[in-house]
Amino acid sequence: MTEHPLVRMTGIGKRFGGVHACRDIDLTVRAGEVHALLGENGAGKSTLINILSGVITEYDGTIELDGRPVSFAGPSDAQRAGIATIHQELDLVAGLSIAENMFLGREPRTRVGTVDLRRMRRQATDHLRTLGADLEPRRLVGSLRVGEQQLVEIGRALSLNARVLIMDEPTAALADAEVERLFATIAELRRAGVGIVYISHRMAEIEVVADRVTVLRNGGVAGSVDPKTASRDDIIQLMVGRSVDALYGEGRNEPGDVLLDVRGLAVAPRRPTPGRTEPAGVDLTVRSGEIVGLAGLMGAGRTELLETLFGAGGSGRRAGQVTFDGRPYRPHGPRSALARGVAFVPEDRRGAGLMLEHSVSDNVVLSALSTLSRLGLVRRQAVKRTVAGQLSALAVKAASPVVATATLSGGNQQKVVFAKQLLTRPRLLLLDEPTRGVDIGAKAEIYRLLHQLADTGMAILLASSELPELLSICDRVVVLHRGHTVAALPRASATQQAILAAANGADAKEAR
Ligand SMILES: Nc1ncnc2c1ncn2[C@@H]1O[C@H](COP(=O)(O)OP(=O)(O)OP(=O)(O)O)[C@@H](O)[C@H]1O
Ligand SMILES: [Mg+2]
Repeated sequence: MTEHPLVRMTGIGKRFGGVHACRDIDLTVRAGEVHALLGENGAGKSTLINILSGVITEYDGTIELDGRPVSFAGPSDAQRAGIATIHQELDLVAGLSIAENMFLGREPRTRVGTVDLRRMRRQATDHLRTLGADLEPRRLVGSLRVGEQQLVEIGRALSLNARVLIMDEPTAALADAEVERLFATIAELRRAGVGIVYISHRMAEIEVVADRVTVLRNGGVAGSVDPKTASRDDIIQLMVGRSVDALYGEGRNEPGDVLLDVRGLAVAPRRPTPGRTEPAGVDLTVRSGEIVGLAGLMGAGRTELLETLFGAGGSGRRAGQVTFDGRPYRPHGPRSALARGVAFVPEDRRGAGLMLEHSVSDNVVLSALSTLSRLGLVRRQAVKRTVAGQLSALAVKAASPVVATATLSGGNQQKVVFAKQLLTRPRLLLLDEPTRGVDIGAKAEIYRLLHQLADTGMAILLASSELPELLSICDRVVVLHRGHTVAALPRASATQQAILAAANGADAKEAR
């Protein structure tokens, strides 16, 4: 008798109109292995796992589970067969609690048939603890930060006790400590014989976690490699079909005058939101032409600071002084921030005003309409040119600029958010995890673009959980801890250790 792999996908094909998202793909997943799926934005990774998880039901080819052919009528059908999926785009219900989201449609019941709320909350808490997340299960998901939502989504998948676990960029919004916890959990699952499909754009993670690597390119399998023997360059070459040199640009212009000056900024919100860390004593400056990084652990208040600077934080009493271009700066809302020349690319692209059902073109030009319209009339040629220019500058992969944004792969949607903000020609660009979900080639493009923008005098303030990213593109790194500035490290003295020490070191001080 031959041993069957847990999952065998054979000859998988899928077209969306003219786009061949998957072509003749073979993929197996064995019990107790982590099979990593790599590829550029739009290569077909999410489409392939959407087929395996029952989200897409029309496709070519066959799927076998334990050697038996299966076809799923929908996601819950796949779940019943033992396949749990953490999707790239978080699909949680904002108006429901953490526990409700985790057990939606399969709530534990009491003997009389009502939902057993206590058991549900206890189980939710247990699953979250496994991941190192200490979240009150009654909190509404809408009040959580993106990283926390991601943990809830992972917790939900764990609670299914599946035999096959599919993870589509599970760490995109997680900080280093959470990633470590997740990897520990993955190691346990692997020992328990769970087969794991793992998608990520972070090469360092793949090297740590993967037993096997399959690379997709343009919807087909470009090759499979053993991550223990293959070099990073080999893998990248398979992904992009060429070698990517210099991921990070070199040679920068000298920064100019101070554009943004923040002193002792603190916000006391009228109604505090649990889980938010408002600025509680932030000092920082950003010069024109300078790229300043914001580092800190999850919950350090990076996102909240950026939101405050964009006028998108909550209202409340405010202390400290903020000036922009030498004048007092206190935006009442995003509009007044944009009017002063401050733009913001938020972490959560769905909440970022991306209208998914509208065309890519509409989304890109939306915030620049005033520049592009003359006497209230939008100049169609100008729009077309601008959109085309912006899409090619960022290497956005879309069938055409008029397709619905929802049809773009996750990473390409992220680039559209980026393109849209750049069109407002800001003087200060605020970025929250700008390369989240973006593939390695496009990352290089974005870094190059940031350097170009800085060289034209744009000031850039960038929050990232990827330390290598901060270290290599920033002129200075400001470290936050619980809403306070705890360090501002110039490029020369900014090392991974120095940043981590600052991010954690404040803890030690407070404990004393
Ligand atoms: N519902 C859809 N309608 C039309 N085209 C689609 C749809 N879903 C995916 N596509 C297209 O199929 C191709 C593969 O997309 P997919 O989402 O699988 O890429 P991916 O490898 O997951 O990329 P990323 O790393 O950016 O998440 C892309 O060209 C995408 O635009
Ligand atoms: Mg994807």
